[in-house]
Amino acid sequence: MKNLMSDAEVIQRVFDHIDNNTTDLGDTVWHAPVENYMSDAHFADELEMFRRLPTVFCPSAALSEPGSYVARTTAGVPILAVRGDDGKVRAFYNSCRHRGMALAEGMGKVGAFVCRYHAWAYGLDGRLKHVSGEEGFPGLDMDKHGLIEVVAEERGGLVFVTQKDPIAEGALAAVPDILKPEQEVFDYHQFEDASNWKLVSEAAMEGYHIKPLHTKSFYPYGYDNLNVVETYGPNSRLVFPFRRVEKLRDVPPAERRADGVLTYVYHLFPNTRVSMVSSHHQLIIIEPVAPNRSRTEFFRLTPPMRNGRQVDMAKTLKDAEFVKDTGQMEDREAACAIQEGLKTEANGHFTFGRYEKSAVHFHQHLEAHLERIRSATR
Ligand code: FES
Ligand SMILES: [Fe+2]
Repeated sequence: MKNLMSDAEVIQRVFDHIDNNTTDLGDTVWHAPVENYMSDAHFADELEMFRRLPTVFCPSAALSEPGSYVARTTAGVPILAVRGDDGKVRAFYNSCRHRGMALAEGMGKVGAFVCRYHAWAYGLDGRLKHVSGEEGFPGLDMDKHGLIEVVAEERGGLVFVTQKDPIAEGALAAVPDILKPEQEVFDYHQFEDASNWKLVSEAAMEGYHIKPLHTKSFYPYGYDNLNVVETYGPNSRLVFPFRRVEKLRDVPPAERRADGVLTYVYHLFPNTRVSMVSSHHQLIIIEPVAPNRSRTEFFRLTPPMRNGRQVDMAKTLKDAEFVKDTGQMEDREAACAIQEGLKTEANGHFTFGRYEKSAVHFHQHLEAHLERIRSATR
């Protein structure tokens, strides 16, 4: 994998853009048929792709100890990931082998999974350990009634799962070390929006809308249409500088650090991004629910330690709420307004221009993956 630029290189590029009133540009324009945001058939192909690709399930930090688990629905299927006594993360279908009850929900820690319907109990490795009233199940082979495992792998502080295929050799090679082991999840919640999952994702793939859409939220602190955009594998990284980057003008280039002066947004194909906001990190996974509905899984983590300094939680929480309640709400509302606008038949396609390089890169890879899925399933 090619290396992403260092902080010093990124900051120099930002200064060049400020001085020349420019931004990074893609080399091509993309047209996405609006049908791809509405059609059931297209959505079915996308779901199939989600189940075959390694997709981000949760941060490793949510599974910090043996017995820590996250249970949530991904690509329409309830999955449960848990760290075992051996330190390994495993993922299972979240469905009891007696009569299918969900075994866990949300985030938590257990010694074993005890079904709340009839109390069958499973170990952290998925093995069926106890059947209440065992004499009621003559001939039951306990070894064949463990939880059904799906593929899970940790990389770069993230847990990936795939439901259908093993993770291909090198498939995660383009995932950099994004989250550090000392970072803690201080919040995990979900919300649904009446918009296609791609519309919610695309909102974070360009800075061309900063001034018009985020006039009073992000724009006073940042720049309009001024980004550094790099692609790596199917993924991309965007830089959104704050105006306070200016204070680094007099700092020798090699000593310039991105901390607090810009936001890195790492997109991980197809539906995940990690935003490194000044005081905390957000892991955002956008789940397809229906062609016109998505669910955002929102994990917020403390920033990595800086020079052994403790995290200022009051500042972290204040910043986290500001970002969530202002700019991100504006992006969500825009995504829903676009979905609603699809009813008008005004557009046959959406046009992504050269300012929207990351979105074009995303669509190119999405199209290629869907084409492969279609030819494999036809
Ligand atoms: S469904 Fe789980 S014990 Fe019956
Ligand atoms: Fe936005």
